Amino acid sequence: MYICLCYGVTDKAIKKAVKEDGVGNMRELRETLGVGSQCGRCIQMAQQVIDSTIIDE
Ligand code: FES
Repeated sequence: MYICLCYGVTDKAIKKAVKEDGVGNMRELRETLGVGSQCGRCIQMAQQVIDSTIIDE
């Protein structure tokens, strides 16, 4: 499922960034994948994906 439409980033891609690239918060996700740096509409959803991925580990 797409989380960030501006950058075409899926929940899968965010999970991968958290697990493999050490992304731990929105700032790091923005720096890594651009998520949230355009319209900002995806920020809340993206944060939830980060949180649930961290809890899963
Ligand atoms: Fe992510 Fe617009 S949907 S910045």
